[in-house]
Amino acid sequence: MISINPFNPPSRLLMGPGPSDVPPSVLLSMARPVLGHLDPVFVGMMEELKGMLREVYQTANDMTFPVSGTGSAGMEFCLVNLIEPGDEVIIGVNGVFGTRMADVASRCGAKVIKVESPWGTIITPEQIAQALVGRNPKLVAVVHAETSTGALTPVEEISRLSREAGALFVLDAVTSLAGCPVRIDAWGVDAVYSGTQKCLSCPPGLSPVSMSARAVETAARRKSKVQSWYLDVNLLAAYWGQDRVYHHTAPISMNYALHEALRLVLAEGLESRWRRHEQNHGMLKRALEAMGLSFAAQPGHQLWQLNAISVPEGIEESVVRRRLLLEDGIEIGAGLGPLKGKIWRVGLMGATSTGANVRRFVAAFGRILKDCGNRCDVAAALKECA
Ligand SMILES: Cc1ncc(COP(=O)(O)O)c(C=O)c1O
Repeated sequence: MISINPFNPPSRLLMGPGPSDVPPSVLLSMARPVLGHLDPVFVGMMEELKGMLREVYQTANDMTFPVSGTGSAGMEFCLVNLIEPGDEVIIGVNGVFGTRMADVASRCGAKVIKVESPWGTIITPEQIAQALVGRNPKLVAVVHAETSTGALTPVEEISRLSREAGALFVLDAVTSLAGCPVRIDAWGVDAVYSGTQKCLSCPPGLSPVSMSARAVETAARRKSKVQSWYLDVNLLAAYWGQDRVYHHTAPISMNYALHEALRLVLAEGLESRWRRHEQNHGMLKRALEAMGLSFAAQPGHQLWQLNAISVPEGIEESVVRRRLLLEDGIEIGAGLGPLKGKIWRVGLMGATSTGANVRRFVAAFGRILKDCGNRCDVAAALKECA
């Protein structure tokens, strides 16, 4: 018989690309008694959850709820419901998550037109306008905040162009939601998905989604059944809507956690939360520039919540990352794909985004870089974090 001790994870400062630090009240909410998923008290909580999600997404969309699954499930939810085999779709690809969207769309049987930009740069309205010439796509999809590169694509104009061309506009807001402005109705977004583990500062496990009436109607009028039973919006609507028809057993405790995380977001206020992310990004940027380091994403379009830092000459990125984790308990992320070995990804998402965390990171990172032979001025950097 094997004997296993209870799992006791170490305490870390989560400054990677997600998950971010989770506030104690969110963790505690998961320790509350589990209710049945059709219990009227749980159902009442679901209503509050939907209301708070509408506020955070800045939408009046009725069809706004958390899909049971991570951000990738939200991506599949949006694409699998709106795409029928043979549909033409335009997808912006400028990193890992645009690449994933194109893959999911092709698995739905779509004819995928990729609009590509070098990793670290944005997708422009001009590129989308050009791709729309002579085409009549079912949808256009773009990643708002590319977590793999640190670039924020402005989407309002892209959404307008898509609508004018008669296409639905789909947005990945996994990393942007609650960390910088996301305005679903004002921007005319038809389908959006996010994740709980980034700027909402909740554990991973749910994917808040929202669909416009136009998108819901598109899914209802399909010629073919939605290929995924689990993610079919027509079935999920009966569970999350007024009918409360059993569909699947909702992850009860995760919904408690999201309820508390959203409550904290709204108590802080969206505008204040965005400003906090902007200010702490500014502090980190000034400190790292004082150390002679530079940001890798396109100037003017750098994310507040995910900072892509170029690895200086002569430094082995994995050594620094590993030492930060083992010596200081700080997790940061590595570069992916063409950026592997070339950048570090430092997250300042949700509860992680504080001045104290920026200072702690700069002190530890500077010490390790110096140890590795880099001649950075850590004292000058720390002055920027005062
Ligand atoms: C922009 C973006 N889209 C989609 C995803 C996929 O989310 P998940 O890993 O929660 O499935 C991520 C995850 O990091 C992401 O950053």
